[in-house]
Amino acid sequence: MASPLPPRASLSPAPHVRLSRATVPAGHRRDIAHVLIPEKRIQRRVDELAAAVSADYRGKELVMVALLNGTVAFLADLMRRMEFPLTLDLMGVSSYRSGTSSGELTYTKRLKLDVRGRHVLVIDDILDTGKTLTAVTQELNSLGAATLRTCVLLDKPTSRPTGGFEADYVGFVVPHLFVVGYGLDYAEKYRNLPFVGVLKREVYAPDAAK
Ligand code: XMP
Repeated sequence: MASPLPPRASLSPAPHVRLSRATVPAGHRRDIAHVLIPEKRIQRRVDELAAAVSADYRGKELVMVALLNGTVAFLADLMRRMEFPLTLDLMGVSSYRSGTSSGELTYTKRLKLDVRGRHVLVIDDILDTGKTLTAVTQELNSLGAATLRTCVLLDKPTSRPTGGFEADYVGFVVPHLFVVGYGLDYAEKYRNLPFVGVLKREVYAPDAAK
């Protein structure tokens, strides 16, 4: 059986972000209206998240389970800051989104590792309604994880009722806007932006903008 986890290391409260005054890089101006979180600010917060997670899991057998595809950038940055051995697995969860609203959940890739009796940290890009992480944590508990915590880059709490799902480690609290970049997509685009930005309305609602 895995040894107990220490209480969570201190992590400064996730900052509430507002639209930044940073200029949208020229190559992205056609579709992106605003930068919400500039690249340097993301990187500084990933340092803080990694320090807290490292303090909690150093010397333990950590299994990081990252949800595809939105975590690609966050995962790559976060895991390279962990200066101790860990194992990684990926889970594919799709919510059959239509436009910017989420629908029913299906698994597009199941876990390969056996998580029974292991310390599991689930990594996700954004916690919105909480449907995804509620389902995924139920699944991992049913697979016998010894402990389970969650780490998200972004939290959009306005989509959840009070008492809804809360993540253990949170990068930023964001307003009720559809955001893209740093792994997050709209129609599989914009994942490569190094910052988190807000799409122009005409991109996702072309008729409403006319
Ligand atoms: P739930 O509602 O289950 O949502 O907490 C989690 C998943 O929904 C997607 N999502 C977004 N994707 N910009 C995105 O690119 C957004 O603003 C956004 N809000 C939710 C995302 O896949 C996340 O894992």
